[in-house]
Amino acid sequence: MEPVLEIKNLKVRFTLEEQVVEALKGISFSIYPKEIVALVGESGSGKSVTCYSILNLLPKYADIEGSITFRKDNKKIELLRLNEKQLRNIRGNDISMVFQEPSAVLNPLFTVGHQIVETILSHRDINKEEAKEIAIDVMRKVHIPEPERRFYQYPHELSGGLKQRVAIAIAIVNNPLILLADEPTTALDVTVSAQILKLFLELKENLKLGILLITHDLGIVAEVADRVIVLYRGEIVEEGDVFSIFDSPEHPYTKKLLNSRPSLLKRA
Ligand SMILES: Nc1ncnc2c1ncn2[C@@H]1O[C@H](COP(=O)(O)OP(=O)(O)OP(=O)(O)O)[C@@H](O)[C@H]1O
Ligand SMILES: [Mg+2]
Repeated sequence: MEPVLEIKNLKVRFTLEEQVVEALKGISFSIYPKEIVALVGESGSGKSVTCYSILNLLPKYADIEGSITFRKDNKKIELLRLNEKQLRNIRGNDISMVFQEPSAVLNPLFTVGHQIVETILSHRDINKEEAKEIAIDVMRKVHIPEPERRFYQYPHELSGGLKQRVAIAIAIVNNPLILLADEPTTALDVTVSAQILKLFLELKENLKLGILLITHDLGIVAEVADRVIVLYRGEIVEEGDVFSIFDSPEHPYTKKLLNSRPSLLKRA
């Protein structure tokens, strides 16, 4: 099987006045369909920058080098070379993103149904009624109870977990091939977080999604990841399937990371 995303020798440098930050120092990895790749590493190691590079959402003063190829219908698209219009076509459509805070994507002034419908209409030429049906359907897919009623609710009427489900519904409604999730459960309590992770597992299977899951939490990695990439100060210091990394970490940093959470080493 071919990877759906291939990152090669990605370097990102921020130059702010006199200060230069080398956020990524030449990282390479791939994501395959139907796979959850966990990107872990301490704060500031470059996890979010990796995510934003893929969608070209970094600020203008960032220097980006390397290659990020996205594969669709057997065509390879170099993401770093697209213009803004081409990128808009890809973002929220072929590649979408879920953030830590659902409020990053949800507008408090509109009903959740309206927002899902708008996302559909921004990429598809169908009428509102058809879009509404698709919206209800996707709300069902992410297990929002009573979707017909919830459709007319505003974000503030929903719990944190339900809001994140709406954000995920918006992310998947246009049938993406890749989902980028930056700490998607950090703001949720343990029970709700577990339910959202279960949803990711389901979506990966049913929609054949390739998921890049950024997290601090090794418990989450053990639960859902197929493969793990450990970032340390802008470099990949370890990469492998979740069992081998948990069983025999190679890099001192990974060992330290695992030692700080010994109870999570037991994976069923
Ligand atoms: N917009 C930016 N301008 C300047 N420097 C930035 C910018 N975004 C990130 N950086 C720097 O790049 C490095 C990597 O940051 P990044 O946000 O990717 O870390 P992270 O691994 O996501 O950390 P966290 O776990 O805290 O979210 C850090 O040194 C950070 O200060
Ligand atoms: Mg981050």
